[in-house]
Amino acid sequence: MNHFAIAAVFCVVAAFTLNGADAQSTGNLMCYNCTYTTVLGFEVGEKGCDDAFSATGISKISCDGSCAKRVLEGDIPATMRTCHTALEGECVELNRFEISAGNYISQHCCSGNLCNSAGALAFNLLVAVVAVCGALAVKY
Ligand SMILES: *[C@@H]1O[C@H](CO)[C@@H](O)[C@H](O)[C@H]1NC(C)=O
Repeated sequence: MNHFAIAAVFCVVAAFTLNGADAQSTGNLMCYNCTYTTVLGFEVGEKGCDDAFSATGISKISCDGSCAKRVLEGDIPATMRTCHTALEGECVELNRFEISAGNYISQHCCSGNLCNSAGALAFNLLVAVVAVCGALAVKY
């Protein structure tokens, strides 16, 4: 197989996979729901909620929006995984947005079942697919 064929297969498979992930969000989407933070040296919440994620003891909730992972960096570092409900509006991707001096918030949104388990990588699948397939379309 040449590179074009390999990339074309990748695009088709990826398109179907992403479709499947979207289809799930109209049904019974489940998201991990947890918080882990350290306040004045005390640990609050579930340690497994932090990176690297460990699902043991982490609760799952049904969600009518998207699953989200939020990370605070700065005075009070925290990791949150939850449902971004439809009521809250669109789930916006944030990449170390500065909320005050030295404090940053990141938010990653996704629409597959329990998809808010991962680090940033899985959330960038859509970006990767768009990049590869876009490059392909330009080249051929
Ligand atoms: C999600 O977890 C938070 C604490 O991290 C809790 O306050 C909230 O009630 C939970 N939500 C649901 C729907 O269980």
